[in-house]
Amino acid sequence: MQILVTGGAGYIGSHTCVELIKCGMDVVIVDNFSNSKPVVCDRLELITGKRPKLYTGDVRDSELMDKVFAENEISAVIHFAGLKAVGESVEKPLLYYSCNLDSTFSLLAAMKKAGVGKLIFSSSASVYSDEDESPYSEESMTGCTNPYSRTKLMIEYILKDMYISDPSWQFVILRYFNPIGAHKSGLIGEDPQGIPNNLLPYVAQVAVGRRAFLGVFGNDYDTPDGTGVRDYIHVCDLARGHVLALQKMDGFEGVETINLGTGRGSSVLDVVKAFEKACGKPVPYEIKPRRAGDKAVCYCNPDKAKKLLGFETEYDLDDMCRDTWNWQSRNPEGYGD
Ligand code: NAD
Ligand code: UD1
Repeated sequence: MQILVTGGAGYIGSHTCVELIKCGMDVVIVDNFSNSKPVVCDRLELITGKRPKLYTGDVRDSELMDKVFAENEISAVIHFAGLKAVGESVEKPLLYYSCNLDSTFSLLAAMKKAGVGKLIFSSSASVYSDEDESPYSEESMTGCTNPYSRTKLMIEYILKDMYISDPSWQFVILRYFNPIGAHKSGLIGEDPQGIPNNLLPYVAQVAVGRRAFLGVFGNDYDTPDGTGVRDYIHVCDLARGHVLALQKMDGFEGVETINLGTGRGSSVLDVVKAFEKACGKPVPYEIKPRRAGDKAVCYCNPDKAKKLLGFETEYDLDDMCRDTWNWQSRNPEGYGD
């Protein structure tokens, strides 16, 4: 079975490729390397013994997408390709609407031409409204505060409209909570360009000496220690969730939207403590003002994933920090140049 993985060289995509190959599937990647490096394919081959077939290019390129479907026997698509930095999306909304929406349009058109109907789409917990409360279930209220999240929610609606127009489409929308960690080999992991926006890459870069200290964005939230609480999920658990979704989607009626998280919340200071344990040294931090747009608490109700996919997470926060540190300490500069 050949699976097309758009954005397969990226952080979540690369870990998902490992899981897919482990389960005997053949992987075809389309990636423009706007936020990843070709060396990821070498690493995937080292881990799995199999080299994914790679098309270097943009998913918005319809000719390329037609070629990919013509040259392969694709049975299903996992669509990771897209831009994901919230702050950048506020500064450059057109870039985000263009990249995230247009890539989905050209992908769907190519799928339709090729007669491929199965798609798993990467959505985000950031589509849940601040007016609702954790634990977020799939029925919780949605509402976005930035262009990035809006592209995710728009694509969710677009997929639902496509299904209404033609029920032979099979769509699964996965709403990720906070993916962290890395493959246990330490060969692949998260490698943000420039200054990391997200907590774990920042903490890891402090621990490895690339940054002096972590800024903790607010310690006056209504949480046990005053810092923000999130549902961190190991990227390998998340990757396994995609394989389960692929395996089970034939049994689904309509478009299924499923949370992927642990259902447990950890604070920023919980993460700092767990990371210090993992790396065996202090992670210096300073309390800073709250970051605009941050929720106090965000964790999921994972019941639907368990019921529909049989999905349960295996890794806890200590495992996630251990594996992040393993990746970061073996690759202090990420994938490098
Ligand atoms: P990532 O940036 O590491 O991976 C995305 C990959 O897509 C990169 O390799 C990039 O080069 C590629 N890409 C981007 N635009 C492309 C285009 N137009 N054509 C071809 N390739 C393109 O991001 P990630 O963390 O692996 O996230 C994967 C998906 O999951 C994204 O859609 C993201 O919005 C979503 N998501 C991520 C998180 C998270 O915390 N990482 C949370 C929720 C949802
Ligand atoms: C961010 C995005 C969200 C996206 C998610 C996963 C914003 C506003 N939200 O969410 O849309 O889906 O990443 O990619 O960017 N923190 C610090 N110091 C730091 C970095 C983070 O204290 O240097 C805190 C944050 O305030 C938060 C927690 O750590 O309480 C997690 O932050 P982060 O990793 O950025 O994820 P989210 O805010 O959940």
